[in-house]
Amino acid sequence: MKSIEVKAERSYSVEIGIAWRDRLREILGNHNRVLVIAPTSLSHFLDFSTLNLSDEGIFWVPDGEDQKSSAVAEAIWQRCGEMNLQRSDAIVGIGGGATTDLAGFVAATWLRGIEWYAFPTSLAGMVDASVGGKTGINTAAGKNLVGAFHSPSLVAIDLDFLKSLSDRDFAAGLAEVIKCGFISDASILELLKETTDIQAARAHAAILVEKSVAVKARVVGTDFKESKAREVLNYGHTAGHAIEKLSGYSLRHGEAVSIGLIFAAHLSRNVCGLGDDEVSLHGELLAKFGLPTTTRYSLDEIVVLMAGDKKARSGEMRFIGLSTIGTPAWIENPTSDAIRFAYESISK
Ligand code: GLY
Repeated sequence: MKSIEVKAERSYSVEIGIAWRDRLREILGNHNRVLVIAPTSLSHFLDFSTLNLSDEGIFWVPDGEDQKSSAVAEAIWQRCGEMNLQRSDAIVGIGGGATTDLAGFVAATWLRGIEWYAFPTSLAGMVDASVGGKTGINTAAGKNLVGAFHSPSLVAIDLDFLKSLSDRDFAAGLAEVIKCGFISDASILELLKETTDIQAARAHAAILVEKSVAVKARVVGTDFKESKAREVLNYGHTAGHAIEKLSGYSLRHGEAVSIGLIFAAHLSRNVCGLGDDEVSLHGELLAKFGLPTTTRYSLDEIVVLMAGDKKARSGEMRFIGLSTIGTPAWIENPTSDAIRFAYESISK
């Protein structure tokens, strides 16, 4: 087991390589009442029978982004009330990023904040969503606009869950791993350069998770509430979010980010002087793991959504770029030529 400390509004550990049942048993022993939130799609993998958990203590939620709704949150608050969850009690989220976002949000809001524990089961959840204390739900106003910064007490990563992932979902998580490599840890890229395909990448899961969590922990530790430094985690995300939305969320987040990374690399070449080899490496690695690198959406469609991105200020477009691997740069209001050049790299 490897443990990485995250210093946020308080410190907590990300434990990589634990057995989920053992950790959950300990948590159940440390609190009077625990409410576990998990998606029904995992009910075949999650055998709670050997744990001291009543039916009332498990709340099954729908799969994917559907669970991050105010209606589901309301139903869970109702259950919290029925169980009479107190400040000394806890919530546990076991699932992908959507489940840990939801579980953390319910924990942040119930009694103005109770403890919660994240057990991410997807690669994207392990390396990104569960670490860093961002919690939230989706509303009619947009994705993740309602939420709270509320760190978990522990992120417990059982790598066996990765075996339950399809290659498509594993690859989607790899997009975030590759992002971590480009913004901060070239050794991730070196390892992936030597990795022949997705099966070989699965064999490196433990080290890839460890290195990516270490990147995220470092960044979050310097700027928990994202005043500026944490924005580097959004490398590839400005165009990525736009493309994800245009796809009606039929693309996985990581797939849209993959296309966004190609866009950001070309923008970086034009605006920040990122070298040709570094730009090419983006496409080489992402394509090797079957991730998409082009889109059929038009420049205009993407620009409209990018201008509404959370990082946009006073109508100006803002991007995270790179001047070299490991050196992120903030790109404010690039010229339309620079945007068009970047778009040409992802246009089908
Ligand atoms: N996923 C980006 C962040 O946690 O800030």
